[in-house]
Amino acid sequence: MKTFRLGIIGLGDMANYHFQQISAVSAFRITAVCDVHPERLASAGNRLGLPQGKRYADYADLIRDPDVDAVVSITPNHLHADIMKKCLEAGKPFMSEKPFTRTVEEAEELLGLYLRRPVPAMIGFSYRYTPAFRLARQLIQAGKIGRVRTFSMQYLQGWGAAVYRQPYVWRFDKSVAGSGTLGDLGSHMIDLAHFLFGRFQELSSQMATLIPERQRAGTDERAKVEVDDFVSFQAFMQNGTAGIFQTTRNAIGSENQLEVFVYGDAGTLHASTVNPGQLIWMHVDEETGLTVEKKLTVPPGARLKQWEDFAGLLAGVPDEGLPDFMAGYDNQRVIEAVIRSNEWKRTVTVSYS
Ligand SMILES: NC(=O)c1ccc[n+]([C@@H]2O[C@H](COP(=O)([O-])OP(=O)(O)OC[C@H]3O[C@@H](n4cnc5c(N)ncnc54)[C@H](O)[C@@H]3O)[C@@H](O)[C@H]2O)c1
Repeated sequence: MKTFRLGIIGLGDMANYHFQQISAVSAFRITAVCDVHPERLASAGNRLGLPQGKRYADYADLIRDPDVDAVVSITPNHLHADIMKKCLEAGKPFMSEKPFTRTVEEAEELLGLYLRRPVPAMIGFSYRYTPAFRLARQLIQAGKIGRVRTFSMQYLQGWGAAVYRQPYVWRFDKSVAGSGTLGDLGSHMIDLAHFLFGRFQELSSQMATLIPERQRAGTDERAKVEVDDFVSFQAFMQNGTAGIFQTTRNAIGSENQLEVFVYGDAGTLHASTVNPGQLIWMHVDEETGLTVEKKLTVPPGARLKQWEDFAGLLAGVPDEGLPDFMAGYDNQRVIEAVIRSNEWKRTVTVSYS
């Protein structure tokens, strides 16, 4: 397979995770890195053995670099739109982290550019690659649980709970993050719903800021939190399936728990990141009439890694389930509907492009 040269922008926590995954794919070579944090830049540059000229402080220079075939953007949310815009203008393929953008207005501008001149693009909806969710999709599509009627989904983390005294970070700053739990974790739930059930028809939401102030790290100063840290919504999908959703970063004991129960006429599926290699399937045994529960181990055929799929995209052979540019745009339309429903206190129709 051809080798693709990657340039990575943003060398923080998530980049460390991606570095490991990228290094396992032989199709990639990292040829440039960028961060405004000098120590992180030096550390990544040294680890990768990159010359000083390939260590950038300005992401525009990395995007322009002719030795970069594709850009990987792992920056705080306020930079997602501008980095994607510069990639689209330069005709450079990219993988950009979720949430797609901070606002629907940013998403609209990008869509205009993309439709005029599309490039291969992936948005970081990494849970499409959780084996249990992938197998659930295959079984739903194969009719294994009959017609799907309802589902419930939750994405819970605990690090934001008051007891941990988590200081103020960019994730609580509306001007940087766009929204709180909604864009951070809710975007993953929305994407999983798109992946499993198709598009939304309408929804009704409630959002809350549970901890309205947080300490700025290393100071006595209190900073006001303007973003949500709890979101729930109920929705009808376009195929008539009804679903309920909740997400928070204040659920003590939940480290990183994204899970879905899917209820069909002929059975139930339960998939969770807590046990990503296993899917629980409940159905009624025809002979005994009893409800049986089976724990299915996800077979190799339902396992695909995010970076293998990105290599496939660059080679022109992506998986049909790849979270592409439109998956990002559609996601932002649903986020917008959740925000409006909470603001207007009524059910809203989700409009796509
Ligand atoms: N797909 C997932 O499951 C997942 C998980 C975690 C984070 N994320 C996303 O990844 C992104 C980054 O999250 P994180 O936890 O790594 O954040 P982080 O704060 O740990 O890292 C962000 C990095 O970007 C750098 N940066 C800031 N401004 C920059 C600029 N102008 N140019 C270049 N670099 C700049 C920072 O110095 C920092 O090193 C977020 O958008 C987040 O939503 C996705």
